[in-house]
Amino acid sequence: MRKNPYVPRLAKIVEIREENYNTKTFTFRFLDGDGFKFTPGEFNLVTICGAGESTFTVASKPGMKDLQNTIRKVGKLTETLFNMNIGDKVGIRGPYGKPWPLREIEGKDIVIVAGGIGLAPLRPVIYYIAMNRDRYGHVDLLYGARTPKDMIYTSEMDEWRRVKDFNLQLTVDYVPPNVEWTHKVGVVTVLLKEIEADLRNTVALICGPEIMMKFTAYQLHKMGISDGDIYLSMERRMRCGIGKCGHCQIGPKFVCMDGPTFSYKEVRLLPDAFE
Ligand SMILES: Cc1cc2nc3c(=O)[nH]c(=O)nc-3n(C[C@H](O)[C@H](O)[C@H](O)COP(=O)(O)OP(=O)(O)OC[C@H]3O[C@@H](n4cnc5c(N)ncnc54)[C@H](O)[C@@H]3O)c2cc1C
Ligand code: FES
Repeated sequence: MRKNPYVPRLAKIVEIREENYNTKTFTFRFLDGDGFKFTPGEFNLVTICGAGESTFTVASKPGMKDLQNTIRKVGKLTETLFNMNIGDKVGIRGPYGKPWPLREIEGKDIVIVAGGIGLAPLRPVIYYIAMNRDRYGHVDLLYGARTPKDMIYTSEMDEWRRVKDFNLQLTVDYVPPNVEWTHKVGVVTVLLKEIEADLRNTVALICGPEIMMKFTAYQLHKMGISDGDIYLSMERRMRCGIGKCGHCQIGPKFVCMDGPTFSYKEVRLLPDAFE
């Protein structure tokens, strides 16, 4: 008999790591004993009885059996989840969606640009490249957040800096008084001049607020990266996650099926792509 795609798998929370004042990374273990196979860039849905269902990018390290989601507290489901503890149970559907084209971009230099919690879908990419270092060229990771306190994964950044040919650059929009900050100040596009990659053979992967993706993609285009080599992870409210309800549409595209990763060439001219 065909499995009902709307029935979630049961999982329990086995770890909760605080990333910052409103964001936590949850590790979920499946009660059926099976793992969670995924490809970087895909998403899953989390269901909590009485709170509903919401969409999150898979933030796990490739190869790990458990599922990790990095989640910002913004509304009904996320508030309920933030009140839960180790051992509490949730439902999980997925993974769904179109991943980053990691196979297709082998041999290229990579520029990763992330804003705020937009680093979550790129965390698996960073680890995938580190695990398969000889398959990719130079990597630039340009990460921006509103303030130093809004950054995520800061506890992992020293490990990333040790990856061969890996240039990590950080910026914040604003440094509050009495906060120590030794990196750049300004929106993330100020970091584009720090790129070390060979732009004639480079692919860009971008995720963040839409306004940030719009300006970053446009600047990278002006710097000479072709629109087909610039990839973005788009966000739209979802219901079914599997192409049935139409909630996630951008023009003719379904973010849940045709995305969430799109090339800039695919979405640049779509109405409402960048709101
Ligand atoms: C592909 C994808 C990946 C994502 N990955 C992550 C991730 O990794 N981490 C993460 O924290 N978030 C992620 N999100 C966003 C996340 O799905 C939403 O923040 C989610 O709605 C939170 O659920 P909630 O019930 O807590 O919030 P809700 O109660 O749904 O409210 C969330 C916000 O949306 C507003 N809102 C409510 N209803 C609507 C509506 N109909 N239309 C527009 N806005 C509305 C609310 O006012 C509030 O500001 C992702 C979304 C997508 C589509
Ligand atoms: S979420 Fe239902 S069609 Fe995309």
